[in-house]
Amino acid sequence: MMMKKLIAGNWKMNGGLTANDSLVQALLAGLAAQPAGCDVAVCVPFPYLSQVHGLLAQSSIGLGSQDVSAHESGAYTGEVSATMLKDFGVRYCLAGHSERRLYHGETDAVVAAKVQRALAAGLTPIVCIGETLAEREAGQTEEVVKRQLAAVIQANGHCISEIVVAYEPVWAIGTGKTATPEQAQQVHAVLRAQLQAASPQAGHIKILYGGSMNAANAAQLLAQPDIDGGLIGGAALKPADFLTIIAAAK
Ligand code: PGA
Repeated sequence: MMMKKLIAGNWKMNGGLTANDSLVQALLAGLAAQPAGCDVAVCVPFPYLSQVHGLLAQSSIGLGSQDVSAHESGAYTGEVSATMLKDFGVRYCLAGHSERRLYHGETDAVVAAKVQRALAAGLTPIVCIGETLAEREAGQTEEVVKRQLAAVIQANGHCISEIVVAYEPVWAIGTGKTATPEQAQQVHAVLRAQLQAASPQAGHIKILYGGSMNAANAAQLLAQPDIDGGLIGGAALKPADFLTIIAAAK
C-alpha cells in the first residue's frame, strides 16, 4: 500500500542544548537543500522539548517525546502527561519502547493506557513492539508482537486508526544487527493483517521498522511493501546519516 512514509529519530537520553542546536540546524539545512518526500519527526528528551520546538518552528519536522504518562494528572511524581506534551507543540510520543518495557517494567497494559492518554490528548502515539532474541529463537516472534499489539487494540478500539506502530526487534536495537528486509517484511505483514482485522480504517496506519536502521540499509528495508518508515536511534544523532535515511524514504 502506498502512503507517505515516516522517518522518526529517537534521540534516547542523548544531547544537550548545544548539541541539539547543531543537530537540528544541520537537519534543517539538509532538508532545505533537498526537501523530504516523507514525514519526518524527532523524539527528544523531555527537558529539550521546548528548545527543539523553537528550533523547528516553521519547519515541517514533527516534534515527538519518548514517553508519556499512563495517567491524566495528579500525584505521579516525575511523570509527564499527554496534555503537558500537547502544550509544548508535541505531535508524536513513543509508547512502550523496549527500553521502557525492559528497564522500567512497562507491561502491555501500561503501554495500552499510555496510548489511550496520548490519543485522548490528540497526540499520535508511536507504539513500539518487538520480540527478544530468546523469543525469536523459540519461534515466538509472531505470538509476542501480536500479543503486544492486541493489548493496544483492545484498549483503544476504533481509535487505533490514529496510531503509528513501530516493529523493533529487541535484538536489533543498538546492536548493529538489523533484521533482514525479508524478516522485517514478514512481521510487518502479520501486523498489517491484525490491524486490518481490528478496524476498517486501519489501512492508513503506518508500520515503521526500527533496530539498527542506518544510511546503508535503509533503502532496502524501506522498499518492502509493508514497511512504512523507520524509527531511528543511533543514526538519528548523525545528521548526514539521518538525512540519507530520509532521502531513501521517498
Ligand atoms: P537503533 O535504535 O537505531 O540505535 O537500533 C532504534 C530504537 O531504539 O528506536
